[in-house]
Amino acid sequence: MCGIVGYIGPQQAYPILIKGLKRLEYRGYDSAGVALMNDNQILNVYKAKGKVSDLESSIEKKDISGTIGIAHTRWATHGEPCQANAHPHYSSSENLALIHNGIIENYAVLKEKLQKNGYVFQSTTDTEVLVQLIEYIRVSHEIDLLSAVQLALRTVVGAYAIAILDRNNPDEIIAARKSSPLVVGVGDNEFFLASDATPIVEYTNKVIYLDDEEIAVINRNTGLKIVNLKNVEVDHAIQTVSLNLGQLEKNGFPHFMLKEIFDQPSCIMDCMRGRINVEANNVVLSAVIDHSERLLAAKRFIIVACGTSWHAALIGKNLLESFCRIPVEVEYASEFRYRDPILSADDVVIAISQSGETADTLAAIELARSKGAFIYGICNVVGSSIARATHTGSYIHVGPEIGVASTKAFTGQVTVLTMLALTLGRLKKTLSEERYLETVKELASIPEKMKHVLELNEKVKELSKPFTYAHNFIYLGRGYSYPVALEGALKLKEISYIHAEGYPAAEMKHGPIALIDAEMPVVVIATKNGMYEKVLSNIQEIKARQGKVIALVTEGDEIIANVADLCIELPKTLECLEPLITSLPLQLLAYHIAVCKGKNVDQPRNLAKSVTVE
Ligand code: AGP
Ligand code: GLU
Repeated sequence: MCGIVGYIGPQQAYPILIKGLKRLEYRGYDSAGVALMNDNQILNVYKAKGKVSDLESSIEKKDISGTIGIAHTRWATHGEPCQANAHPHYSSSENLALIHNGIIENYAVLKEKLQKNGYVFQSTTDTEVLVQLIEYIRVSHEIDLLSAVQLALRTVVGAYAIAILDRNNPDEIIAARKSSPLVVGVGDNEFFLASDATPIVEYTNKVIYLDDEEIAVINRNTGLKIVNLKNVEVDHAIQTVSLNLGQLEKNGFPHFMLKEIFDQPSCIMDCMRGRINVEANNVVLSAVIDHSERLLAAKRFIIVACGTSWHAALIGKNLLESFCRIPVEVEYASEFRYRDPILSADDVVIAISQSGETADTLAAIELARSKGAFIYGICNVVGSSIARATHTGSYIHVGPEIGVASTKAFTGQVTVLTMLALTLGRLKKTLSEERYLETVKELASIPEKMKHVLELNEKVKELSKPFTYAHNFIYLGRGYSYPVALEGALKLKEISYIHAEGYPAAEMKHGPIALIDAEMPVVVIATKNGMYEKVLSNIQEIKARQGKVIALVTEGDEIIANVADLCIELPKTLECLEPLITSLPLQLLAYHIAVCKGKNVDQPRNLAKSVTVE
């Protein structure tokens, strides 16, 4: 989620806020805004869709004076990118202005209650519900702002990093966080707020990182006070930031791609947030609730996508056919759009796209709509062209993906496809309650297992070195692991420029095995599942021809360790969830080989993050 900046002190706030937002632009966003309180206690809010520079242009002639302010870059999750949905959001009285990073999951039920109490909303965001709730509590309970914030934050469910200005108190900013990061910069008689230290370090290297459910009360006269939601004061040591600006933009990682690989556990938690209820062992997708009749009546699913999203689609096919017992066809959008496909109103077309702007996928959707099909979108960018072209859909909520090589978006797409298959399978009663509950429970445990896999980073880094000089790679997998083999090959190709092919493991003997010799590294996904014995035979066939085998195995496997040249041991999970585990070491392998080769990992040659042309 995106960017927060705040300032209170003797300087004019506006230049500091705008510069701070620009420092956070790398995180990707769709709109920006700023709230400033001038010396006459006028609380001005300015916001615009688009870039920070668009916001600047839009307020050139406005009053931007004031020594206290907050600013925000939005990455939309609820309510498409537009001026009204941009932050800051006023409360109804316009006495409060609030900015927010994160998701208020229970915003709908809170909004309904507020509307019944006469509140009128200017936006379709979840954030505006929070500022109205704070005002409602403050007015109805006749309490101070801090107490109202504490009560409100004990009421909301979700993730937040917020900052609030109160026109009746020009000397104070109140900020709070839960799951979304927030840093307080401690200057000389001045304070800064930001999502990370990047906008702060040029003014001070003294920072305090707020912990979850902590509130910072920053007052220009009395200084900084940190309390929890129960108003118990919390002590925090001031830390010194030593990272340089470039590193800070990537949270200390050398590349966005590695940061995004390591973000996957928290991103998949964000993707499942509000959708998987572990206690109740239940999956809820609002799109399925709203369109269950049409989705359950489908005679066929057709999934259209490109690149990595097409690999996720192949996994989606396995999931939907297994759980829903309905035929699923996976199509390259670029092929589908030109072959005059046979479609009808009985078809549901699922369009998968991280950017939501891929031209071929958009064209495929428009063709399918023209033939009466029902379109379900799985996108990352809220309000993107593809998201708006579909009848309904589910966002993957993994936050902006900056690295051109897709990583967290892939696992986010697979997670949404899994939740979709579980939900529909249960409704169609083609998925046993026992298997449903077992899969939901295991899916909820995946983020922790991902963290465990990422501890293998140094091991993968070491084993990748000898392969820097390879000219070709083959990736093999069966069943759910075949699309992962394709994805692993694509990752290596697109960032290291080493030719790599993914294959169904059994296909080796139908030709590709002629390529095997001592110079050919072969990555084999050989986890303990129904195909294990078959894959073991494939490994032996490769070794018989001196191929070098890197095997992904299940922890404790001793058989393949005696056959393969290198083994990467992974935590066990259900076969249908293995792509969420096995894709991570392949992302790391590609990353480390590319870094060893000195390649531009985040912006590989010839590639664009979103292919908006044919
Ligand atoms: C994946 O690493 C590539 N960047 C590329 O294949 C990408 O998946 C493809 O262009 C589709 O993009 P989309 O998901 O934004 O539609
Ligand atoms: N959920 C809020 C919105 O959609 C905040 C998004 C963000 O973190 O930028 O406006």
